[in-house]
Amino acid sequence: MIDAGSAAPLPAPAASRTAVMVRLEEVSKTFAIGRQRLQAVAPTSLEVAEGEIFGVVGFSGAGKSTLLRLINLLERPTSGRVFVGEQELTALGPAALRQARRAIGMIFQSFNLLSNRTALENVEFALEIAGVDRATRRRRALECLAIVGLEEKVRQYPAQLSGGQRQRVAIARALANQPKLLLCDEATSALDPHTTLAILQFLRQINQEFRVTMVVVSHEINVVRYLCQRVAVMDAGRIVEELDLRDPTSAPTTPLGRFLLETAQGWTPETRLPEAIEVSA
Ligand SMILES: Nc1ncnc2c1ncn2[C@@H]1O[C@H](COP(=O)(O)OP(=O)(O)OP(=O)(O)O)[C@@H](O)[C@H]1O
Ligand SMILES: [Mg+2]
Repeated sequence: MIDAGSAAPLPAPAASRTAVMVRLEEVSKTFAIGRQRLQAVAPTSLEVAEGEIFGVVGFSGAGKSTLLRLINLLERPTSGRVFVGEQELTALGPAALRQARRAIGMIFQSFNLLSNRTALENVEFALEIAGVDRATRRRRALECLAIVGLEEKVRQYPAQLSGGQRQRVAIARALANQPKLLLCDEATSALDPHTTLAILQFLRQINQEFRVTMVVVSHEINVVRYLCQRVAVMDAGRIVEELDLRDPTSAPTTPLGRFLLETAQGWTPETRLPEAIEVSA
């Protein structure tokens, strides 16, 4: 198991790095619902450096999950181009895209484990899909479950695990294919603060130890503050500002950015939503 307590310093800011892991060029997504069209993500350009943990915050419905799913083409963009590493994903055919996706792991709020498979089998399954042979599958799945501290639970089914343990199985599964990029969609939103912190420590450790680049979507600025230096604030399908959380001179300028940062200081009974913000929940 990784010693999550001895975290090294966070990765250096994107500006001091050269390699880009994720590049979105004017990427947008419009959903058609019957005759109606809903622009979930307006044309957006974004770069995430290799080794970075990049955060995306915003209210419910802002387009955070859609933006994340555009990175691995779980959602096909309506327009624009998506690059991961050296490859333009939007230019690949189905077989090449499947191959490229193996280097991109994803974890979700709801864990998405197969209930009729044990922890070990869940992780092995990800490797089976990738065409890894049986012996390697077993060895690597056990290694990944050990990384997340679940050696004792490998034969348990998801229903026999706590929420935090289930999420750790999901992280082990995401790590099994040795991804260079991990997409996290509200990965800790279903967990209590203690378990959340344990999972965040794992993610940070994985970033440092295996140099896995991450894009982390969260409602919670605390989660993003813990993991990220750069964070994008999303509102109604747009990135309204990008903040450098470690730079004391980079203060939020939008009402939403200010509100999200203010909530991190804790609510009081007097806390109110700024009038400029409409919540469509
Ligand atoms: N498959 C879909 N079909 C139609 N509309 C969709 C689809 N997926 C998302 N949307 C719409 O796109 C908008 C953005 O949704 P998205 O899930 O990206 O928001 P979010 O910021 O992740 O919200 P939350 O914080 O609640 O998870 C919403 O208005 C949603 O209803
Ligand atoms: Mg979402």
